[in-house]
Amino acid sequence: MSDLTETFRTAPLDDALRQAVEAQGLAVTRVEDGDRESTDRWLDAVSRGFLDGERNDTQRQAFFDHTAYRRKIAVTDPGAPVPDVPVATFASWGAELTLPGGVVPACAISSVTVAPTHRRRGVLRRLMTGELRTAASLGFPVAVLTASEAGIYGRFGFAPAAAAATWEIDVRRARWIGPEAPGRIDFLTREAGCAAAPALHERVRREVPGEIDMPGGHWERMFRTRADAEKAEELRVVQYRSPDGEVDGLALYRVAENDDDYAASSATVVYLLAATDAAYAGLWRFLLSMDLIGTLTASELSVDEPLWWMIADQRAATITVRDHQYVRVLDVPAALSSRRYDVDDTIVFEVADALGIADGVFVLSAGGEPGVDAVDEPPVGLPVVRLGIAELSAILVGGVSPATLARAGRLETDDPARLTRLFASTATPRLSFWY
Ligand SMILES: CC(C)(COP(=O)(O)OP(=O)(O)OC[C@H]1O[C@@H](n2cnc3c(N)ncnc32)[C@H](O)[C@@H]1OP(=O)(O)O)[C@@H](O)C(=O)NCCC(=O)NCCS
Repeated sequence: MSDLTETFRTAPLDDALRQAVEAQGLAVTRVEDGDRESTDRWLDAVSRGFLDGERNDTQRQAFFDHTAYRRKIAVTDPGAPVPDVPVATFASWGAELTLPGGVVPACAISSVTVAPTHRRRGVLRRLMTGELRTAASLGFPVAVLTASEAGIYGRFGFAPAAAAATWEIDVRRARWIGPEAPGRIDFLTREAGCAAAPALHERVRREVPGEIDMPGGHWERMFRTRADAEKAEELRVVQYRSPDGEVDGLALYRVAENDDDYAASSATVVYLLAATDAAYAGLWRFLLSMDLIGTLTASELSVDEPLWWMIADQRAATITVRDHQYVRVLDVPAALSSRRYDVDDTIVFEVADALGIADGVFVLSAGGEPGVDAVDEPPVGLPVVRLGIAELSAILVGGVSPATLARAGRLETDDPARLTRLFASTATPRLSFWY
């Protein structure tokens, strides 16, 4: 665990947050490490917030064991009949976000809930503002999250920076025209797959803007190897091994029989991890050639999948795109200098931030090792771009061009094409899971 991650997890609460919550007659605390009872109550609130039922002891123990690394914030109401179950929850931890040509420390946020009895009184606003201030003050250049609803986080400066595509493929219609992969596909146990996945994911995620490191406990949950796993038996795991014996890919999937027409059964790809193009081709070809499967579904794919060019009939795929990885810059110089730029240029950014965390005027000198200086006034003679912190967060990751945002009225600049050349990225951002 990095120093920043550890310092952040145990950092005191923001004073303004505490005062604002107390002014509402509520209390805000950090759930103490090792406090099983408080963690159980906190989990009760999270489950209720996400429409889940009460957790049983196995689930509580698994949650306690797998989330110790998270900073867990609870808002409680001393006037409530069950005062130890929080009326709001908020979790965060130190992660690493991949950008074009680099990585940046990121404060990852999850488990955000406000009880239906306390909603729309500004509790989330207070928590988010206070926790972002704490993350920024400790040195996180960005914050990241995935959202239950798309309408919540824009007001806090988050941008949907990496979109996700869901594919539903009519398998018999698709017809494979991709390359023949030289390696072999074999079934693995869930435990063996879970053991192989972390190292493989580390190879993959650093190459793909928008990805973060897999949060603790996620692999066990995904492979259903935890004590609280449900329907573990339905998961199938295959690996792709290259001719020289290297495990370069893994796929998890489950199948559902079609009782009326056995040969029209369906399969769902739960996760596919490919560190090489051959592994990618080998695994997708395998998935698209299973007997009895008429429909294959996969989610959290890139909006620019090579798979699109590996099937003869592109109309066999129905693709739905939606917002997925949200990114929010907290420190403009640190964030902008964490990625690489393929052209030399110098541009002035006038950044507005409604939360007052990262606004200012900044000069980016790109090319080679980028440099970013905060200045009081825009220097004369350089192109200027005026934009909000969400728009800056979106172009940082490379999922939308500044020219598109300019046409959408989301940023102002005299020369959108010049800015677009600067922020061009050769890799389409993607986040392959939820957190
Ligand atoms: C989403 C949720 C946390 C909001 O909490 P809240 O305390 O009611 O939010 P606030 O009162 O602080 O609202 C802050 C602002 O966000 C807006 N907002 C809150 N929830 C919203 C939603 N679901 N959709 C759109 N806007 C929302 C409010 O209108 C308010 O806007 P304003 O500041 O412009 O007036 C809460 O409704 C909830 O727990 N939902 C169910 C669980 C969930 O989906 N959590 C999010 C997980 S990513």
